[in-house]
Amino acid sequence: LRRKSPVRYDESRACWDVFRYEDAHHILKNPAEFSSKRRLAGNENDTLLTMDPPRHSQMRALVNKAFTPRVISELEPHIASIANECLDAVIGRGSMDVVHDLAVPVPVIVIAELLGVRPQDRMLFKEWSDILVMGSEENSEASFKQLMATKQRALEELNVYLGSIVEERKKQPKEDLISLLISDEIDGEKLKDHEILGFSILLLAAGNETTTNLITNAVRYLTEAPKAQEQLREHPELIPGFFEEVLRYYPPIQAIGRVAAADCTIGGQPIKAGDQVVSWVASANRDESKFPDPDTFLIDRKPNAHLSFGFGIHFCLGAPLARLEGQIAIRAMLERMADIRFAAGTPLVPIQSPFVFGVKQYPV
Ligand code: HEM
Repeated sequence: LRRKSPVRYDESRACWDVFRYEDAHHILKNPAEFSSKRRLAGNENDTLLTMDPPRHSQMRALVNKAFTPRVISELEPHIASIANECLDAVIGRGSMDVVHDLAVPVPVIVIAELLGVRPQDRMLFKEWSDILVMGSEENSEASFKQLMATKQRALEELNVYLGSIVEERKKQPKEDLISLLISDEIDGEKLKDHEILGFSILLLAAGNETTTNLITNAVRYLTEAPKAQEQLREHPELIPGFFEEVLRYYPPIQAIGRVAAADCTIGGQPIKAGDQVVSWVASANRDESKFPDPDTFLIDRKPNAHLSFGFGIHFCLGAPLARLEGQIAIRAMLERMADIRFAAGTPLVPIQSPFVFGVKQYPV
């Protein structure tokens, strides 16, 4: 595709697909030409992800404060204790499902705690956030409609639940993200309740399944290449670089959408204002003109400018958190398990979405 049809129009989806690194990078780098104002399934509200400047810049400046690498690094001991608690429950058993026992609970608990959710409601959160990112299993209009109705219901329930937390925090602020969003201002104006709710829901939708897949994909690679386990046990300082390569090689998000704001060209191909454009990160990350030997996993690949967290003004807000959670989860597994092997014979069932790379279970 990169060689023969690097920019092609897909009639059935009514959008352009872009496969080369240079073109994908150009699109993400130019928000004035390629707008983020698009409707995401199951979310009627404007969120950071679907805003353009100047509103995006104001909103992003405000929420950035809660997600700086320094703020996030302070969470390290706490995330380590969450990961170790998950492993305590399975360690004597000799087997575990990486998805269910570790990769799902760690990000859910962390985001729930950041938001200030009551501990007993954490798994309810997981269910809601799963529904928001769920793809249709069948290709029929009926199943699509049913999915939309389920997403709408989950969204309404989440709004009611988070709305009750916003009311509680207005009366009695705590040290959590919702309290910060209530007290902060953009140009002397406080955020409206629906903006606080929209942002909280975005965190759940954007941060849970992605990080679950990052952790699972990392373990998957370690079982495919057991030598890498040895290397990382001997040299834990290689773990951050290893994660960048997991992100490049098995990107949890495969593609990023935009809308052309004016008539333009991409890779020599004329595009009309209003056309939908999809940048295929999974392909850009394997582009031989950017990454030497792109289909080889290099544990210490440098430089490694993958696009798995996007690029430019919408670069993933949660990247420092996702990296930290992933590194802590893998370090804990490597420290506590002598030899991690895939439970041979288990069929790998992919998550049913063309935009997500992950599997439903990964028993080891
Ligand atoms: C944006 C991927 C984890 C919150 C993005 C974008 C990508 C991405 C590709 C850019 C979308 C665009 O340009 O339209 C990932 C991956 C993750 C991850 C692969 C895990 C491995 C997280 C986490 C959080 C988070 C843990 C929060 C707790 C966000 C938010 C945005 C975003 C709020 C919107 C930023 C903006 O529009 O300015 N993410 N993400 N993500 N991500 Fe992540």
